[in-house]
Amino acid sequence: MKETDSKPAKKTEHVIRSAHYDDLDNIQALLEPFVQQRKLLRRLESELILLMANGFVAELIEDGKPKIVGFAAVEIYSRKLGEIQCLAVDDGYQGRGIGSDLVRACVERARKKGILEVMAISASDEFLRKLGFDYSLPEQKRALFFQLHSRDDLFRDTLQDESP
Ligand SMILES: CC(C)(COP(=O)(O)OP(=O)(O)OC[C@H]1O[C@@H](n2cnc3c(N)ncnc32)[C@H](O)[C@@H]1OP(=O)(O)O)[C@@H](O)C(=O)NCCC(=O)NCCS
Repeated sequence: MKETDSKPAKKTEHVIRSAHYDDLDNIQALLEPFVQQRKLLRRLESELILLMANGFVAELIEDGKPKIVGFAAVEIYSRKLGEIQCLAVDDGYQGRGIGSDLVRACVERARKKGILEVMAISASDEFLRKLGFDYSLPEQKRALFFQLHSRDDLFRDTLQDESP
């Protein structure tokens, strides 16, 4: 096989671990650019703290110091359903398998808790399909959505809540 045919080896130096309260500032800093780009909804600090209970960070050592480069959480709604939330990997660290590892950690957490189904609402659907997510459940059961407010309203409301 020619050298150009082979994929470059993926770097695997990151670790995935449960999020701790001390990680809050770093997680907020990680998510902020994606909120600005409207790829993620802005969360109140209190909402993020709740999500962190079933949240995971990707951490690696850079210049001798630990650095958080990814985050995802699974929000547990009921025994039946969980949702992947706030999935983000720092732009400079994408394409190394970190996002996949974070989603797997969330799915495993839900599995251990006995949750039946995990869903994700995302524009990165091809990424999620590679991880086993699909548009319908076995037996052709599908999720149907009814939008009550535009996501733009939610962005506006959050900004108003935060104004002095
Ligand atoms: C989506 C995201 C988390 C992926 O993180 P990542 O660490 O780059 O993902 P991985 O390296 O594990 O990628 C796994 C595979 O998915 C592919 N992939 C990654 N992001 C993709 C995307 N947005 N669309 C389609 N495919 C994507 C990768 O090319 C890779 O494919 P390969 O296995 O054939 O090489 C990252 O791009 C991100 O933070 N995006 C902005 C935030 C966002 O959109 N979050 C919502 C997602 S639910």
